Formats: sequence, C-alpha cells, structure tokens
Amino acid sequence: MTDALARFRNKIIVTDVLNGLAKLPDNSIDCVMTSPPYWGLRDYGIPPTVWDGDPGCRHKWKPATVNSAREKRNAATKKAGGSAVRNNQLGAELGARDFGQFCVHCDAWRGCLGLEPTIDLFLKHMLAVFDEVKRVMKPTGTCWVNLGDSYAGGWGMKRVGRPSSGQANAIRVRSKSLCLVPHRFVIAMSERGWIVRNHIVWYKPNHMPSSTRDRFANSWDHVFLMTKQRRYYFDLDAVRVPHRSLPRQSANARSKTREGDLSRDVGADGATAFHPNGKNPGDCWTIATRPAAFAHFATFPEKLVETPIKAGCPRLVCKQCGAPKRDIRYRPPNPNAFAMNYRDAQAGKHLPGKKRLRPDEVKRYDDRAYSSKGGTYTVAPGCPCNRGYVPGIVLDPFAGTATTCVVAKRLRRNYVGFEINQRHAVLADDRLLNV
Ligand SMILES: C[S@@+](CC[C@H](N)C(=O)[O-])C[C@H]1O[C@@H](n2cnc3c(N)ncnc32)[C@H](O)[C@@H]1O
Ligand SMILES: [Zn+2]
Ligand SMILES: [Zn+2]
Repeated sequence: MTDALARFRNKIIVTDVLNGLAKLPDNSIDCVMTSPPYWGLRDYGIPPTVWDGDPGCRHKWKPATVNSAREKRNAATKKAGGSAVRNNQLGAELGARDFGQFCVHCDAWRGCLGLEPTIDLFLKHMLAVFDEVKRVMKPTGTCWVNLGDSYAGGWGMKRVGRPSSGQANAIRVRSKSLCLVPHRFVIAMSERGWIVRNHIVWYKPNHMPSSTRDRFANSWDHVFLMTKQRRYYFDLDAVRVPHRSLPRQSANARSKTREGDLSRDVGADGATAFHPNGKNPGDCWTIATRPAAFAHFATFPEKLVETPIKAGCPRLVCKQCGAPKRDIRYRPPNPNAFAMNYRDAQAGKHLPGKKRLRPDEVKRYDDRAYSSKGGTYTVAPGCPCNRGYVPGIVLDPFAGTATTCVVAKRLRRNYVGFEINQRHAVLADDRLLNV
C-alpha cells in the first residue's frame, strides 16, 4: 500500500494544493504539519487558481470589487505604480488587494488562497483542502495546523461585489476587530468530524513590536492538533521535557524514596506521578520566530516542527499495512497505584471486603507504586504482518521553503511537500540537499 506513494516520497512537488492532494492515496500519510496562508495577510505573488464552481463551465471572469472609498483609493494607488505586494503583519490594516475574480456563470472564484474577499470563502477553501487531508491521512494520523489571525481593515464591513447571491449571509467583522479566523476554522473542522485534541499557544518571545496604543501587541499564534480517530499514534515519551523542580511529596511517599530518585517520586496528593523521562511539554510553546532572512516566506522555526513530528509521526511503519511500530521506552508503574495512598492501601481500602492488607500484599503494593524498575525498554510491533518497516511519512501541503520536510528528513522520517510557488520550491530543494 505504501508503494502508491513512491513518486511523492521525499519530494517537494510544485503544484496547487488540491491537485497535489487528489493524487495521494487514501489513508497513506502518518502526520501533517502545515501552515496555510493566513487570510488577508500577505500576497505571496503566486499564480491564481480556480476554486469551487462548475468544472464543466466555460468561465467568464469578472473582478470582485469592494465598494469602499478606501479600497477605490488603494486601487488607484496601485494603478499609479504603488506596491502591489504587501507583507502586512498582524495588526496592520490591509491595503490594496487583489480580491480575485468570480465567474459570471457559475460560483467559481479565481484567485490566491488567503486573498479571498470574504472570510466565508476563505474558510470554504480551507475546508475543501482539509477534507482532502483527512482522506489521505491514516486513521492513526495526526494533523497539526498553524494558523494566524488578522484585523479587519476599513474593508471589513463592506459589501463585496459578487454575481451570485451568497453575499447576504457573509461573515461581517467590524473594522479594527480581530477576524477570529483560527477560531472559526477550528470550530468548522470540529463540526466536520475532526477531533480537536489541542489548541497550542505558540508564544514568540521576539514578537513584532506594535505601534498600536489601544490594544496589546500580538505575541502568540495558534497551532491546532487534530485527529481522525479517538485513538491515534502519539509518542509523548519522545517529547518530554526536564522537570523544573522536585515534586512535593507526602510524608509516606518521602519515607519510601531515596532522595534524587525521580522514578520514586509521588506528588503531594499522591496522584501526580513525576515521570522519570521528564514532563509533558504542555500546550504553551515558547519559540522565537526565524531571523529576517526567512521571515519574508513566513518560514517555520525548526523547533516548532520538531515536537509535532517526534510525537505525531512514527519512526517506523509496517511495510505491508502501514501501521505504526510502537516504541515503548518506559513502562511506568501502574498509574492507579499512584492514585492510591500508601496509608489507604495499608488500611485495606483498595481491597473491598478486607480490613487490612497482609504484609506481603503491602509489599507488593509498594513495589508497584514506588518501584524504580519500571523503565523497561520494549518495542512492540503495531500489527502482525512481520514484513519489515519503513519510516513514517510527514506531509506539508503548503510546504513553502520546506521547514517541515527539512526537520522530517533530519529526524529520519519520509516526507512529501506541495508548494505552488516555484521560487519557494527551489529554495526548499536547496535546504533539503544540506540536511
Ligand atoms: C505560510 S507559508 C508556509 C511556510 C512554510 N511553513 C515554511 O516553513 O517555509 C504558505 C505557503 O503556501 C503556499 N501556497 C499558497 N497557496 C497555495 C496553493 N494553492 N497550493 C500550494 N501551495 C500554496 C505559499 O506559496 C507559501 O509558500
Ligand atoms: Zn464558471
Ligand atoms: Zn502490518
């Protein structure tokens, strides 16, 4: 089954995202890590593509117009030689924009993803892309999406000229308001059956300063972790981070532990085990953005991609059925044991009908709860095929300069990237050669 991927594996393919996805087989991708163009923020200077509408229609295009005096002024500036390409940072009001064109016969729109005249249309296109992502993802797969927000400019409330009737119900956002695009996107994804497992805050300690005086500067961005199924591949042990401090311990637990032996530590409430391999990194990630040389391409910092790939893409998958091979690095003591309290066990509370535990039972309980012998290394295959393994595969459908693929290669996973901009794809290939 993985052979159907042969012509995509470890390549950056210059294509429109929907064309690329359409060629991938069902249930073939282990992990998706991507950052689509944000709505209304930047013009990547890429060729327009046709979305929606009737594929059989002989489209006749009419520019989408915005009935605002500001837009008209901006359009005039643009004609007079003003910059057509703007790299607006979050918070900057949008200037001259190319809203694309609508077909006068059918519902098709021709333009660049992210430059749709309305939020609705952008979301519609994003959902079309992620419906396909869902199809190509394995049931065990994880999908990580970084999506930013923008503020409505003067055009936010204006009616957009469109031949069809869909405008009346368009989402309207008042000028100066956050458009809440990431929130709308993830709610729509949830309504379409995705399981939203995390809303991660990517905090940027080197965030852009803001000249705005009536709100706070934007210092973080959204990353969503979504899955197809309730059970999916996730290797928490691969991304644990060091504990900052020793846990507070109950008197009983303390009397049972040697100092400094983390594997024996039990939290004050007796329920919080301090995992010897480190703690769960949590859902707020502090990662500086890339230096200016890459900023123009909205390039991911490599660190932002590392955690999703290590946790969400298996190192190896079955050659035959594609099931992830599971690494069990550490078998922690019975977690229920930590939820119990030593004194409770002694009092026999955990054995219904018994007043007290016998000494050997207490010892067995102790061994389970406080043993440092939990750290067995075992590798359990995820399927019975026994046909050998290949690396798991990561997809970035908006590859840009291919940070996702670079990190995937460094972490010895396979990858495939789609990118519509030839210039970005050339840079991507250069970067990949040096990994
Ligand atoms: C936010 S950037 C991704 C940057 C990337 N994460 C990196 O680290 O370089 C979004 C990318 O999507 C590409 N893109 C925009 N529309 C596309 C489309 N319809 N099909 C494929 N790629 C598209 C843009 O050219 C841009 O490189
Ligand atoms: Zn048409
Ligand atoms: Zn198998």
